[in-house]
Amino acid sequence: MKTIHAAITGVHGWVPQDVITNDDLSKMVDTNDEWITSRTGIKQRHILKDPTKATSDMAAEAVKGLLKKTKTNPADIELIIVATITPDMMFPSCAALTATKVGAVNAFAFDLNSACSGFLFGLETAAKFIESGTYKKVILVGADKMTSLTDYTNRNTCILFGDAAAAVLLEPNTEGNGVIDSVLHVDSTNWEYLCLKAGGSLKPATHETVDAGEHFIYQDGQPVFKIAVNSMANTAREVLERNSLTGKDVNFLIPHQANKRIIDATGHYLGLKPEQICVNIENYGNTTAATIPLCMWDFEHAFKKGDNIILAAFGGGYSWGALYLKWAL
Ligand code: COA
Repeated sequence: MKTIHAAITGVHGWVPQDVITNDDLSKMVDTNDEWITSRTGIKQRHILKDPTKATSDMAAEAVKGLLKKTKTNPADIELIIVATITPDMMFPSCAALTATKVGAVNAFAFDLNSACSGFLFGLETAAKFIESGTYKKVILVGADKMTSLTDYTNRNTCILFGDAAAAVLLEPNTEGNGVIDSVLHVDSTNWEYLCLKAGGSLKPATHETVDAGEHFIYQDGQPVFKIAVNSMANTAREVLERNSLTGKDVNFLIPHQANKRIIDATGHYLGLKPEQICVNIENYGNTTAATIPLCMWDFEHAFKKGDNIILAAFGGGYSWGALYLKWAL
């Protein structure tokens, strides 16, 4: 019997129309375009302005586009996983809301919370449902409305984040293409450097937590920066070595888009040329779980069937890893 791999058979993204540029931010906090561009690579971020819309609305738009593009009947979808840290509410899950919004009446659905590594962890999880032979059509969405956690008086973080959603369809492949291998990790020793301090069961919302701004994302950038570079590069190298590949065998690296300098350092460590590295951080900023599928969507025109593609991410938890897939389209 031939091995079943979980192949990506469609990718589609959705971003809100409104943008905040670096110049817009320089009118809100003490910053400027030159600092933001040189320290992060970001020029603008898309933001979901409509106060009645949430992450599931963006996820649903991405999934609707994906279903149309792949000519898939929503009733044929068996599972929807939404990787997100900004669900519409604590429960019901963003995935359940998304499934109903797109008419996936026969699917079960759940959220997966692993911050900026969410899409990577979700892809490994979704792949197992396909590889087992039990499911034939699984959708994985990376979606985050990061502006809902962003303090626009804090220049350390407000320059970084944007809103977006992007989705992939996974189906069985017996030609050897699809998700091949991954190396995934968590270590919460230093979780406090990157977190949302309040609003969970440890520190439920109170007037004090709101006054202290503890419902906004907190990040101590420098220690996170250092460990992000090492972790993404080391796990990407490990997944290459395990599969007897070198940088020369890699067609594309799709890294999490948190900082252009982290992306460049990871690519350099792997010996990749700039044209092998997919980068779109300048247009969207860090959209957390959405960065990798959004980048896949932007660059899919360049991918060919059988291409070796490495995904790599680092995020809150800490959580990090790398995944090797062979492009199937
Ligand atoms: N505009 C202008 N100056 C700014 C600024 C801004 N938006 N934000 C910070 N600064 C200042 C700081 O106050 C500091 O000034 P000081 O030297 O007088 O104290 C100086 O710039 C350097 O700050 P620092 O925090 O050391 O900058 P950095 O080079 O580390 O860049 C990040 C900050 C956040 C861009 C960077 O640390 C980063 O990308 N971290 C990792 C992000 C990541 O991967 N997260 C995981 C996934 S979400």
